[in-house]
Amino acid sequence: MTLPCPKAHLPPLSSTRSFEKHLLRTGFCMRASFVTGRRFHNTQAQSAKRSSWTHPVYTQSEVLSVQAAHRNAKDWPDKLALGTVRLLRWCMDCVTGYHTSHKTNAEPTRLSTYQMTEEKWIKRFVFLESVAGVPGMVAAMLRHLKSLRRMRRDYGWIETLLEEAYNERMHLLTFLKLSKPGPSMHFMVLSAQCVFFTGFSIAYILSPRICHRFVGYLEEEAVITYTKAIQELDNGNLPLWSNMQAPPMAVKYWQMPEGHRCMRSLLLHVRADEANHRDVNHTLGSLDQDRDPNPFSAKFRAKVEEARRPLPASVKAN
Ligand SMILES: [Fe+2]
Ligand SMILES: [Fe+2]
Repeated sequence: MTLPCPKAHLPPLSSTRSFEKHLLRTGFCMRASFVTGRRFHNTQAQSAKRSSWTHPVYTQSEVLSVQAAHRNAKDWPDKLALGTVRLLRWCMDCVTGYHTSHKTNAEPTRLSTYQMTEEKWIKRFVFLESVAGVPGMVAAMLRHLKSLRRMRRDYGWIETLLEEAYNERMHLLTFLKLSKPGPSMHFMVLSAQCVFFTGFSIAYILSPRICHRFVGYLEEEAVITYTKAIQELDNGNLPLWSNMQAPPMAVKYWQMPEGHRCMRSLLLHVRADEANHRDVNHTLGSLDQDRDPNPFSAKFRAKVEEARRPLPASVKAN
């Protein structure tokens, strides 16, 4: 579609701000920045565009069939990764007030202290996702730099790692639509990011294999957390979420079908993503970090499908 050129009606420079507003209202966002020489963001126009990483559509059976799973630690690097995740899990439980061992027949005072409310779950999700978005980005950045430095191919790992980081950030942004974190949460996220980003970067330089195993175990915990939240919702312990709809950005991102856009469906979709991260990272943690191609990259999958495709009759005859 050709847009009508607004240049013929250019206003004097003094009124460029109102002109920008006019162009934004009429949809000339690209031209507005060009004509007025200003940088600004038209969030409305941007949100209408498709994401670079379009999320695959899950079927109902796919999201419902996700199960918590555990990969046994086989050697000392696995045990180190698992031990670190358990230590971090304990720290995070303390930070987010997480406790799911309460029972409905527990003493009233104890129940009121430890029961996970909707607010506590969101607090936990926000903290969890703000941390979960770090490893993919760090790993992708370090592999990118390594590829440049060694002047060698990466074999498709970077794309999957960046996609994972983007997906985790979408989880975070979705939960932020349901709650506004206070200054204490901002401070906790900032502190955790400083420590975790630094620690994970150093660890990934030293041993990327242990780091992918670590993320695999971290994602195992994420699947358990979302499974428990879904169980709590099903048990009627989270009444505020029983009739709540997922935010529009989540409906759009996961392409949630009509009739399956409630809070429970949202948690099922997020859990399916976490299970995917778990399987991807455990697989990457078992590969040769320098030579093996990433079996989850689009290019690799296309090659496998090409190889599986039956040969045409004319080729077979030769
Ligand atoms: Fe996540
Ligand atoms: Fe994840």
